[in-house]
Amino acid sequence: MRRSIVIGNWKMNGTLESSRDLLQKLRNRVDREGSRGEIGVCVPYVFIPEAREILNRSPILLGSQNVADQSSGAYTGEISARMLQEFDCRLAIVGHSERRLLYGESNELVAARFRQAIDSGLVPVLCVGETLEQRERGETFDTVLAQLNAVFARSGVQSLLNAIIAYEPVWAIGTGKTATGEQAREVHAFIRNKIAGIDEAVAEGLRILYGGSVKPDNARDLFSMPDIDGGLIGGASLDAESFLTICYSV
Ligand code: 13P
Repeated sequence: MRRSIVIGNWKMNGTLESSRDLLQKLRNRVDREGSRGEIGVCVPYVFIPEAREILNRSPILLGSQNVADQSSGAYTGEISARMLQEFDCRLAIVGHSERRLLYGESNELVAARFRQAIDSGLVPVLCVGETLEQRERGETFDTVLAQLNAVFARSGVQSLLNAIIAYEPVWAIGTGKTATGEQAREVHAFIRNKIAGIDEAVAEGLRILYGGSVKPDNARDLFSMPDIDGGLIGGASLDAESFLTICYSV
């Protein structure tokens, strides 16, 4: 049985004060009521030290929104996996579509970031997904497969034993347009089947999350689909009540 996980991706939002408040609320409720599946929060880098203090000894997992493709050296602006480890980060999002589309991160660069995370024991949350144009041209599966293949070429399919995949159709991110349960399920099943063709045990244990306008009122339907093992939540993770409602919907 795969343990479900819901991860908040705060993106570039909040202040030190608002993030303290949000983390404290999450922590308090999870301390009181426990959680169904796992819960994680990927906060902006500068809030990581504070988040680490607030989440100390909480089951809520701390994560970053990216990780460097190199281990150390002259890479201005990058943060290494080791640095994140030092601050008790457990998760690192890689290949988010905003990184791919707005900052030109290629499949190969994402694969290198993924590799760094794996090598240092961080759990990469590898985001894959198609744009609206790609979907309309019938290229959804090819797009996702190319994104996965770059990672397999670099790290092998076995690396997925310590990773999470998030399917995030770009057209559903921040648009309020959610994929239907069936649209999501179809791609999740495609991903799992592809991997099963190489290694069945890896495919069976792999958690594949859905992301893209997940809200308290659609979470339950999405999470009830086979092959959907939780969610990667953007906007709705910025409000404690909404995020927790989603977390408790698994
Ligand atoms: P929204 O939930 O705001 O659509 O964002 C999804 C996302 O990009 C999570 O990584």
